[in-house]
Amino acid sequence: MNFELKNFDLASAASQACDALIVVVLDPFKPEKGILAELVAQAIQAGDLQTKPGKLLQAYRPAGFACTRLVLACAGDGSAKHVRQAVGAAVSAVKTPAVKRVAICFTSAAKAAWVSAAVAAAAEASYVYTTTKSKPEARSIVSVAIGVPAPDGLKAAFDCAVACVHGVELAKEWANRPANHATPVLLAQAAKALAKLPKIKCEVLGPNQVAKLGMGSFMAVAQGSSEPLRFIVLRYDGAAKAQTPVVLVGKGITFDTGGISIKPAPEMDEMKFDMSGAASVLGVFRALSELKPTINVVGLIPAAENMPDGRAIKPGDVVTSMSGQTIEILNTDAEGRLVLCDALTYAERFKPRAVIDIATLTGACVVALGGVRSGLFSSNDALAAQLHAAGESSLDLCWRMPLDDDYAEGLKTNFADVANVAGRAGGAVTAAKFLQRFAGKFPWAHLDIAGTAWKSGAAKGATGRPVGLLLDYLLALPAGTAAPANALGRAKNAQVQRAAG
Ligand code: BES
Ligand code: MN
Ligand code: ZN
Repeated sequence: MNFELKNFDLASAASQACDALIVVVLDPFKPEKGILAELVAQAIQAGDLQTKPGKLLQAYRPAGFACTRLVLACAGDGSAKHVRQAVGAAVSAVKTPAVKRVAICFTSAAKAAWVSAAVAAAAEASYVYTTTKSKPEARSIVSVAIGVPAPDGLKAAFDCAVACVHGVELAKEWANRPANHATPVLLAQAAKALAKLPKIKCEVLGPNQVAKLGMGSFMAVAQGSSEPLRFIVLRYDGAAKAQTPVVLVGKGITFDTGGISIKPAPEMDEMKFDMSGAASVLGVFRALSELKPTINVVGLIPAAENMPDGRAIKPGDVVTSMSGQTIEILNTDAEGRLVLCDALTYAERFKPRAVIDIATLTGACVVALGGVRSGLFSSNDALAAQLHAAGESSLDLCWRMPLDDDYAEGLKTNFADVANVAGRAGGAVTAAKFLQRFAGKFPWAHLDIAGTAWKSGAAKGATGRPVGLLLDYLLALPAGTAAPANALGRAKNAQVQRAAG
């Protein structure tokens, strides 16, 4: 799908030739001259256009318009969230094979956050998964033009939003693929393919190299599967070598049966999404190579399948992690932390300015926060604040959770340095406490995306989260000196400062 930022406003929107013109109506609406503005004003006056976000009013071949379909979409008070709702509802409403070219404009002077929200929502509403269909239904919408009166000032936000869509869609693609079409080997190939893009390098380690590194915990998870593990190292080099990188660690369990502590059958298919953290790292790299901010980023993906087998780990087995700490595996279904801990130790070699792991880690996080916000854990207040703010500005929300040492009591065992599970209570926090033991040498944060990475039921599918959050965080980082890595980051920082002050 092709996005374009065009120079047109409400007055000239009526002459835009397209299959569907979506007019995002903001409250308050200031009546002005022109066929479209008058139409909106009349509809509001007649009570036909409520200002409730997502409400639509549609017309076919309206006289005086160059578009075939006209959709007025209410965006309430004009928050980015409401603009996202309005555009999402409007694009869903016109999603027929006949609608190929869509144009979107706003009833008042567009803001950067609206442009970003509109691009994200249009992509989201028109996305289709096709990879494993024999007769793929093609995405009907081929182009989306966003009309604004002064495109120059919105170009940076627009470019970021489009790059973010590309990242989100790559993440969705890999997370949605069934596990037999997304093995550790195939994930590594996807990472290798990214290395063909500007500024990206990729190195892939196999079982022998991982054994040499002493990643006994990661290897233990993989040993029950006939699919060989892969340890993926991605690099985005956008700044001088001397600048220390941010390291992103993505959980890459390509299928989680639970192992010998096997999961119940209902919904087990959804455990193909257990590599959504890894997929989000791939997505972020895709977007970085497009935006080229002046930062360095490393992506680490421990990829393996968690299976029960004659060679599989058993409850009670003790393994030695790369850090030297021994781990008693009391539950083989708590495998995510076992692959992440070795990746965290590996991250030390980059002397990182921050390490963020992203993982579909616990069912307990789904219970705590549902599908609205990802769980954010960090002992570093500055890093936590940056990630929280990035979640708010990208509408890819997260919520900070506690890390009191008292939560680690249950991880004590008589047979190793640490157990891989505590009791049922506070399961998302105890998982984070386990990881924290391996993250002492750098500022660290953990995002538990178990509730946010995919949707269940009729809309079953990957969300591409938290690519948006991570990108906003990275783009707002100071690029070595005080200036954010990218123009949008500077604009967003100013927004946040205004909101705070
Ligand atoms: N991948 C799962 C977490 C998960 C479960 C994500 C359901 C989304 C929905 C993880 O590997 C797991 O199985 N965690 C266990 C941990 C427990 C054994 C301490 C869980 O949450 O039940
Ligand atoms: Mn598990
Ligand atoms: Zn898992």
